[in-house]
Amino acid sequence: MHHFSYQEGRLCCEQVDLTRIADEAGTPVYVYSKATLTRHARVLAEAFEHTDCLIAYSVKANGNLAVLRTLAREGCGADVVSGGELRRALAAGIPAHRIVFSGVGKTRSEMRLALDAGIHQFNIESAAELEVLSEVSAGQGKVAPVAVRVNPDVAAGGHPNISTGKAGDKFGVAWAQAPALYDQIKALPAVEAVGVDVHIGSQIGDLGPMRLAFEKTVGLVRDLRSKGHALSRLDLGGGLAIPYRSEDEPAPPKAYADMIRHVTKDLELQVILEPGRVIAGNAGILISEVLYRKPAPDRTFLIVDAGMNDLLRPALYQAHHDILPLIEAGPEASWTSFDVVGPICESTDKFASGRRLPDPAPGDRLAFMSSGAYGAVLSSQYNARPLAAEVLVDGDRFAVIRKRPSFEEMIALEHVPDWLT
Ligand code: LLP
Repeated sequence: MHHFSYQEGRLCCEQVDLTRIADEAGTPVYVYSKATLTRHARVLAEAFEHTDCLIAYSVKANGNLAVLRTLAREGCGADVVSGGELRRALAAGIPAHRIVFSGVGKTRSEMRLALDAGIHQFNIESAAELEVLSEVSAGQGKVAPVAVRVNPDVAAGGHPNISTGKAGDKFGVAWAQAPALYDQIKALPAVEAVGVDVHIGSQIGDLGPMRLAFEKTVGLVRDLRSKGHALSRLDLGGGLAIPYRSEDEPAPPKAYADMIRHVTKDLELQVILEPGRVIAGNAGILISEVLYRKPAPDRTFLIVDAGMNDLLRPALYQAHHDILPLIEAGPEASWTSFDVVGPICESTDKFASGRRLPDPAPGDRLAFMSSGAYGAVLSSQYNARPLAAEVLVDGDRFAVIRKRPSFEEMIALEHVPDWLT
């Protein structure tokens, strides 16, 4: 459920006409609905009511400070994968004791930052990383709380590029090696095992593979406990899918929560979740303006002012985003098919092929739906294009939460050495 809908023929976010935002903030522009973000956080929290559960929102999905603040106010923690994300989460008011640090390549300085802040847990992905963390935390006179991310060898996820739980993936510690890592933790002076972590992929609509991976992981928790490891946490990662098309029916949060409660019953541990897409995905859209129609012998291209630098998902994962005109098509509109493309000099700069649209003309605005997760965060300034602005709507008001950089701001970090002048 989200708060983008036509009201008297105009696409609105909550009570704000999106055309007004496009006029005032320019295009391309990301627009997020605060009510949708809040609702998604609450639906998840309610599904896990009466369960000892930390919902650590995955900052990588959308790390805008205003988005993070919205979720902090709902009581969310954060799953971060870099010092930058950690600092964003802290700056937005997410308490350190609700932050987990994931990722295969944490640097010493990132570890120091996280130890200084006093985060909840480090999710460790290799023996080498464990040794470095112990060294760094010993240097600070601390003991770092760790969970080992295990690779359960279960395939899942909406696209091969976002599946992480198979044996050949770079993520997690190979299943057979995991027990030895827990023995290593015991032997090291400045790390303490607090739990086990698993994350098998993203945009997973079917609970079957998740359940398989979680059952395997719970078995490991029991084994490790029987060997004397006092584990009190189970981090099950993120991955829950969202509907990108109206006919999609991914598993709802309630079924996900029931499955997790069933798999973890009797274990007496804190469940940690790292949801990203399910919170932010349908809470955001990207608005773009039609520039040109370009008829070719076998198709018509619709050239819009957003490019793959603004929304990379179609180019990277062949992802589908519904495209809606900001002004609703009337009964007289003639619907025809278009290849919707951006202005970037790459053939992959294509949002959709053969998409039926109601006679779009230059100057019309289109909304790329479900762009709130892995949209703005994956954008770049390729082709020297400024990053799209970001706007947050709350009821009948809205605010720019990231402005579009000026040309001067875009080049401010660059320097032409004297010896070139
Ligand atoms: N935890 C870990 C360790 C992760 O790697 C991820 C996502 C999450 C949590 C959050 O997963 P979510 O709940 O959002 O599925 N750019 C891709 C998705 C990449 C996901 C990366 N990891 C896309 O646009 O589909």
